[in-house]
Amino acid sequence: MAGKHYVGAIDQGTTGTRFMVFDHAGQVVANAYEKHEQIYPEPGWVEHDPMEIWENTKSVVEAALTEADLAPEQLAALGITNQRETTLLWDSETGRPVHNALVWQDRRTTDRVEELESEDKVEWIREKTGLEADAYFSATKVEWLLDNADPMKMERTLPQDLRDRAESGELLMGTIDTWLIYKLTGNHITDVTNASRTMLYNIREMEWDPELLDEFDVPQTLLPEVRPSSDDATYGSTDAEGFLGAEVPVAGALGDQQAALFGQTCFDEGDAKNTYGTGSFFLMNTGEEAVKSDHGLLTTIGFQRSGEPVQYALEGAIFITGAAIEWLEDVKLIDDPVQTAELARSVDSTDGVYVVPAFTGLGAPHWDGRARGTIVGMTRGTEREHIVRATLESIAYQTRDVAEAMEADAGIDMGRLRVDGGAVKNNFLCQLQSDILGTDIVRPEVDETTALGAAYAAGLAVDYWETVDELRENWQVDRAFDPEGDQEELDAKYDRWGDAVERSLNWAQD
Ligand code: G3P
Repeated sequence: MAGKHYVGAIDQGTTGTRFMVFDHAGQVVANAYEKHEQIYPEPGWVEHDPMEIWENTKSVVEAALTEADLAPEQLAALGITNQRETTLLWDSETGRPVHNALVWQDRRTTDRVEELESEDKVEWIREKTGLEADAYFSATKVEWLLDNADPMKMERTLPQDLRDRAESGELLMGTIDTWLIYKLTGNHITDVTNASRTMLYNIREMEWDPELLDEFDVPQTLLPEVRPSSDDATYGSTDAEGFLGAEVPVAGALGDQQAALFGQTCFDEGDAKNTYGTGSFFLMNTGEEAVKSDHGLLTTIGFQRSGEPVQYALEGAIFITGAAIEWLEDVKLIDDPVQTAELARSVDSTDGVYVVPAFTGLGAPHWDGRARGTIVGMTRGTEREHIVRATLESIAYQTRDVAEAMEADAGIDMGRLRVDGGAVKNNFLCQLQSDILGTDIVRPEVDETTALGAAYAAGLAVDYWETVDELRENWQVDRAFDPEGDQEELDAKYDRWGDAVERSLNWAQD
């Protein structure tokens, strides 16, 4: 690999797009980020403009390379990681989307999910996909797009029925990885981890499930080819005549939470990580076994390398954690998220207050789309410090909810938990998490583990890295947190948290 000193990773997330370049030691050598618009056409609906995402992708790649004075020819490969489940359709001739992407947070298909529940199809779906029937996943979103999307509104396509166009092979469907791979290489491809989040892919048979395609009326012609997350054959290359001006192989892709698992080098059974972003996503590697959850977790694909068996994971998807801090800012209880640690520390406890930030329903392990945010235990003496502290504690309690479910399902004692994401810069939160879990928490030096994971997947495919042991060596501890405090008292408070959650369930009426 003479001259190919680096690997690049596009991290296309819910709020923005990042491009990072890593060297062989897994250190960051270039980094650029751009936000995109969040479109809320109706309450509970969330959309992104796929063309804006593509334009931003090009611009962050160019900006990062320029700023670090790197040439695209120095990149051995590109990896992609992405917000998962977010779904779009585009015209196979023009490569233009026929509608905005429906974002994973979009709840417009809740009624359809309730129909599946009333038809007793939940267990059937779980068996095939490992997922809990929910509007979160792609299946009901594609169905909605085919049946309801009004392409005229987008002023992009002819006023022809989308379903007819899909049947005649004129449209392609993808999650965001697929969209970017298509734009970069011209090929219609997804990786196994992203496929596993569509609720259309059978994670045991490793194929698009014909019965599910039938249930959601999704024509096979819409679907991308499914490939390993780290693919020696590569997904294709960028075009020397294209925006990058060089041929760079695109050789790795993973949904962002699986990418963080990979970037945290959780390659062995029992290895676990929790990423604290808008929500939190706790994944545990369960090896070659797709462990079925009896405690409200998702069974999902962790990663796959070319020629190797699929590695499965259990996942606790918590919808609102970092977003609860944003809410504190929105309602003016804080001016800046950095204040939370100081305010929380200024009181000994929440004084009996619990905040359950179920703003968009509750995900794992409760799966209640009608749950809503709740504050309980307030008295005349409650101060904003108590509410701020209770909000931080809610992040740690929700994590304990899924950690307990995980240990019960997998029968594995997780030992220590690797953490990453924006909120782990907050030492107070890390210590609180360790106390509430009663487990050691470790924060790595390179906390951009999502982009790093995608770079690792791509770099392994082109032999930039030869073995995963090299990646393990790159992983260095920034800081470890050991549990402190009276565990009995902490357990009693955790029990009260459970009571508070009960009060938030099944609240929304429409
Ligand atoms: O499943 C949704 C998840 O992939 C979103 O992650 O980091 O883009 O909010 P993030």
